[in-house]
Amino acid sequence: RPVRGPSIEACVRATAGDQTFACCPPSFAGVDIMDFQLPSASEPVRIRRPAHLAGLDPVWLDKYKRAIKAMRCLPNDDPRSYIQQARVHCAYCNGAYVQADDTNKGLQIHYSWLFLPFHRYYIYFYERILGKLIDDPTFALPFWNWDHEDGMPIADMFKDTESPLYDPLRNPAHQLPTSLLDLDYNKRQPAVRTKEEQVRVNYAVVYNNMVSGAKRRLEFFGAKYRTGSAVPVRQSSGSCENLHNPAHIWVGDSSRALGEDMGNFYSSGRDPLFYVHHGNVDRLWNVWKTIGKFRFDFDDYDYLNASFLFYDENAKPVRVKVKDCLDNKLMRYDYEERPLPWRNFQK
Ligand code: C2O
Repeated sequence: RPVRGPSIEACVRATAGDQTFACCPPSFAGVDIMDFQLPSASEPVRIRRPAHLAGLDPVWLDKYKRAIKAMRCLPNDDPRSYIQQARVHCAYCNGAYVQADDTNKGLQIHYSWLFLPFHRYYIYFYERILGKLIDDPTFALPFWNWDHEDGMPIADMFKDTESPLYDPLRNPAHQLPTSLLDLDYNKRQPAVRTKEEQVRVNYAVVYNNMVSGAKRRLEFFGAKYRTGSAVPVRQSSGSCENLHNPAHIWVGDSSRALGEDMGNFYSSGRDPLFYVHHGNVDRLWNVWKTIGKFRFDFDDYDYLNASFLFYDENAKPVRVKVKDCLDNKLMRYDYEERPLPWRNFQK
């Protein structure tokens, strides 16, 4: 049977390190939960652009900032508020929930085939909430285009300390204009590389996780996870997830024990960069399907029918199923096309 998570009555404090945190959403219990419906085909398609380019468009940037600011101003108990949106990740990843159909088991949406679809829905609703808050149904998130040389630094708009897009809990050294994301980041022994070397290392990492080490679905998506399976652990994640991990650790503040914000599940949703980073992960899911044979989504019943709960842009709870998110065009958003400089990488 598919994972049907979470149980709507059972949510406890989440755990990270040796601390616990309040992450439960405004209760789902007692409210009517609708089944997800795809948006109408007459809705405009939101086009997500690379952050380093979108940031050059002052009209769009102003909208993005206004939307994030409005989200920060919502009362904390509004499920669309900044803090509640961050808590979604915490609740689903730090042990706050149990599975609806196996209440002895925790729920974990990392380290398995649920990773990509869960995060797709998460940023889908987040984007629609932002659009709703500024009354713009065309509003699209940017994506962090770290698989292209020009997109490797953190985009400027996130580094402006006066901006609602700024998050103080980051590694300050990695916010310098010259600092490029290291997709091979090792916190204990950060490598010192020239810009050219770093770009090559990054292309090699993307190539390994998207092309040579991801020829089959299981390699790319991660382990199968059904009701009754053990809660997935790190070793069972797919290459798409392994590819995305170093950015979390690299952005977060390594002087803090839990690496806040980006470096820990419980706090990463507090940094606007989280959703922009995941935009690229989501985009690379699409790209992966276009670069060779055997690159399809799973068609197992237990994959297609796995479900999650979210609050939508109208603060209404919805139950979503994996099968409804496999074609992003039907969800009325898409990505601006970008070159893939890592595609034929040769060592
Ligand atoms: Cu839920 Cu980038 O992690």
